Amino acid sequence: MNAEISTPADELAQRLSATPRGARLARRLAGQQLDAWGFPYGGDVNDAVQHVVAELAANAVTHGRVPGRDFELRLLLFLPDATLRIEVSDARDDRLPAPAAPGEDEGEGGRGLRLVHAFSRAWGVAGRDVGKTVWAELPLKEADMTEQRIGTSDPKPC
Ligand SMILES: Nc1ncnc2c1ncn2[C@@H]1O[C@H](COP(=O)(O)OP(=O)(O)OP(=O)(O)O)[C@@H](O)[C@H]1O
Ligand SMILES: [Mg+2]
Repeated sequence: MNAEISTPADELAQRLSATPRGARLARRLAGQQLDAWGFPYGGDVNDAVQHVVAELAANAVTHGRVPGRDFELRLLLFLPDATLRIEVSDARDDRLPAPAAPGEDEGEGGRGLRLVHAFSRAWGVAGRDVGKTVWAELPLKEADMTEQRIGTSDPKPC
């Protein structure tokens, strides 16, 4: 699916320390970037992206952490496909994300990837030279865009 989608209209890539502070920063950056792209704070898209980034970043700095190595956040905006792709890469390739089955592990943990699944059109894991990338693609709704973004994404014929 991902290979076929169009060239991103915009992109953010940021390396961050694999710490709780780095994970919090990832969420904050995502909220700021979505707002700058025309998906304002308080809107469904901005909220959903912040939730997904927070969960993937938390996983990267706990389960995917290799001491001394950063993790990376990438956001890719595909306007013709009405899709926002989130990529969180960490340095560890000996453990993979494994969502808890429904009903399993209701007490401690196992909630993060279920939340990612609920917000996403699709999500998955891709290998890389060092470590892995956990990605999620979220639908964008015009109703969540500012007037400025709607004007950019839906050009009228001259
Ligand atoms: N980036 C990652 N690298 C390695 N393993 C991962 C990664 N992300 C998730 N996992 C594995 O998948 C499991 C499920 O992740 P999930 O985020 O759903 O729950 P959790 O992190 O254990 O708890 P929480 O509800 O606090 O998110 C984790 O316990 C871990 O074993
Ligand atoms: Mg988690």
